[in-house]
Amino acid sequence: MIWVSALSLMVAGCKSIPPPTPLAQLTPQQAEGHAVFQTKCGVCHADRTNDLLHGPALRGIFKKDYLPSGAPANDDRVMETILHGRNMMPPMGNTMDQQDLDDLLAYLHTI
Ligand code: HEC
Repeated sequence: MIWVSALSLMVAGCKSIPPPTPLAQLTPQQAEGHAVFQTKCGVCHADRTNDLLHGPALRGIFKKDYLPSGAPANDDRVMETILHGRNMMPPMGNTMDQQDLDDLLAYLHTI
């Protein structure tokens, strides 16, 4: 019985992460961010599925409390990762301007 309740809790936990906002419903800024993601991040990260590519899937990144590393999932921490990289992830701050970064962050909140 205990196992059954633990399992249903886990399943409920996963299901409680809402799906990404449909692409057709993105605001112009979020849509720009989606384009930035596809150019800069998509080769290593899945955004709309849970597939593991070179890096962990980012689907639901801001809908969970923690990033894959265990760090809190907040704007500062994610921006830090983008700008300075992390282990096998290269620093990418010099490949994007502030507008790209803002748009990207807006998109990440929708996935
Ligand atoms: C060359 C492949 C590569 C690219 C390009 C890349 N990443 Fe990553 N990323 C990784 C890898 C590998 C990790 C896992 C790092 C680790 O924790 O060891 C990672 C981890 C992350 C994490 C989790 C950090 C944590 O604390 O757990 C975030 C968030 C992230 N990447 C966001 C992005 C975003 C946004 C972009 C696009 C601007 C991007 N990444 C581009 C490879 C990449």
